[in-house]
Amino acid sequence: MIEIKNVSVDFDGFKAVKDVSLTIEDQDTYGIVGFSGAGKSTLVRTINLLQRPSAGQVLVDGVDMLGLSKKDLREKRKKIGMIFQHFNLLNNISVLDNVIFPIKRDKISKEEKKQKALKLLDLVGIKDKADAYPRELSGGQKQRCAIARALMSDPEILLCDEATSALDPKTTKQILELLKSLNEKLKLTIVIITHQMEVVKDLCNKCAVMEEGRIVEQGPTLEIFANPKNRLTKEFVETTTNVEQTIEDVKENLGIIKEDETLVQLKYLGDSTTEPLISDIYDKFGVETNILAGSIEFITGVPVGNLILTFKGEDSQIDKVIEYLLEKEVGVKILGGRDGIL
Ligand SMILES: Nc1ncnc2c1ncn2[C@@H]1O[C@H](COP(=O)(O)OP(=O)(O)O)[C@@H](O)[C@H]1O
Ligand SMILES: [Mg+2]
Repeated sequence: MIEIKNVSVDFDGFKAVKDVSLTIEDQDTYGIVGFSGAGKSTLVRTINLLQRPSAGQVLVDGVDMLGLSKKDLREKRKKIGMIFQHFNLLNNISVLDNVIFPIKRDKISKEEKKQKALKLLDLVGIKDKADAYPRELSGGQKQRCAIARALMSDPEILLCDEATSALDPKTTKQILELLKSLNEKLKLTIVIITHQMEVVKDLCNKCAVMEEGRIVEQGPTLEIFANPKNRLTKEFVETTTNVEQTIEDVKENLGIIKEDETLVQLKYLGDSTTEPLISDIYDKFGVETNILAGSIEFITGVPVGNLILTFKGEDSQIDKVIEYLLEKEVGVKILGGRDGIL
């Protein structure tokens, strides 16, 4: 478990991290999202003390990192692996030697080191590239090599600083899948910094949003996606759902909405699929629905749905429909259409 308590980082008077507190549980896949310059890297580097905080405390498994001797800190750091956007491989040695590098000086035989490295290269899916040089690898393969290298000292925590930001979308998905499998197989705790909300959506069970050195919102990814509160969080969620843009598009094409229709957004979570609800709406209340747009995202395996539709019927019946939907825990937002709001 990682506990960051009231941590601030000050660079000659410039506060890059401001009084941040964060708890990351064992085997979390914790996303830290924010725009460039928000302080994400600086914050995460305080976990292994690559960056010393100016104030506050960092506890890893209950151990106060700032209280460790140099030697103990070196040992502790071995349990915290790190990977980066630009891989940071050594170009003049082979993939295998890159992976061995962190334990090069350890007192085990060369052969044992080699076997361990080969096993890890197999685990990350590039065993056949052991004798290749980094320049012969694709971006995805380079990151796989960097991951194998990070695993060489049997870490319990893996810090990923924009690890997929230099990769194309398909390779990004593959690397995120690999990280997810390592999280499960090796019980690895993963902290991933990213400016892409898509990464959080695909990998993280929890996340925090950072802006100007502060955490503006944090929580389980599902909650963040289902009900973002902060302006910036909403902006990040919107990048994956495009709901607001869809609503704008619908409003711009008002021709598709007739005068006697009400434009509504429905939002639902989990198993409450809307299909039976929509037939209920007609059967019980005589209100017709017309679906204009819809999306379903799976967040940590739970569906989060958004539907943009119109209701057509008596106003009093539509009110009953809305009440009925709210009872079924479907979020309802009237976007316009009634009383000439549109
Ligand atoms: N070593 C440093 N010295 C001075 N300023 C720094 C240093 N590292 C980062 N900063 C500044 O701190 C702010 C946050 O940087 P960083 O943590 O890298 O943000 P992010 O990773 O979110 O892009 C930026 O304004 C950056 O210029
Ligand atoms: Mg950064």
